[in-house]
Amino acid sequence: LGRKILLFEQLDSTNTQAKRLIKGETEEKARHGLLILAEEQTSGRGRLGRDWSSPKRGGIWMSFILRPKLPAESCPMLTLVAAIAVNDTIRRVSGLDSFIKWPNDIVISGKKTCGILTEATGLLSEEPNIILGIGINANRKDFPEELSSSATSLSLEKGKDINRSLLIAEICNSLEKYYEEFTEQGDLTQLKAEYEKYLINRGKQVRVLAKEGEYAGTALGINEQGALLVETKEKEITTVVSGEVSVRGI
Ligand code: BTN
Repeated sequence: LGRKILLFEQLDSTNTQAKRLIKGETEEKARHGLLILAEEQTSGRGRLGRDWSSPKRGGIWMSFILRPKLPAESCPMLTLVAAIAVNDTIRRVSGLDSFIKWPNDIVISGKKTCGILTEATGLLSEEPNIILGIGINANRKDFPEELSSSATSLSLEKGKDINRSLLIAEICNSLEKYYEEFTEQGDLTQLKAEYEKYLINRGKQVRVLAKEGEYAGTALGINEQGALLVETKEKEITTVVSGEVSVRGI
């Protein structure tokens, strides 16, 4: 993955650019593994319809185009596989103690450092296109007021800048390794264990905010589709599917 890279000074969003490629609106073809990078995004997008602040200098705003031969129901787990790969890379390259917050945020010292937005087109076709968008606050030094208490960057945590090119290269390697493990092996035990090892919510009280209402419980881990298992006071185990809900620590 990432053997071919398209680098832009500025884009609205690397995920939106990937969609244009897939639709055939650009000269470049949307090949499996293509990586789109931008120094700055003017309309960066986050999960649940949120904006993603992506100023120039210091961030890593990237999207991979993937064409997995997977059934549609396996696609949510792919996002979690990406979180494993990014978390593993951040730990190795920066030496920082990063964790995964379900489904796919990377947090350091309790603050968000990275977010992942997965989008799919043609999910019901033979070969769906998955756009895996990864935003990392790498060497970013400041955040808008509303994010300053909940977001951080690798450089702020480390006290010095990290090598962004190295981090990007290592993400490509790590993602390729975990992606192959996920797509080629039927058994997800190992990947699930790796995810749960770094899952910051595990064993903790969480509040699930869903459309139907909210409830609290203890996060136990994930199932093979990447849903979060939450045990309520009544000892009932609910499966929380990403995309619909947000989960907060209590
Ligand atoms: C989230 O945590 O809400 C997901 C944030 C994802 C941000 C990345 S930055 C690169 C790619 N392009 C976008 O517009 N969004 C993703």
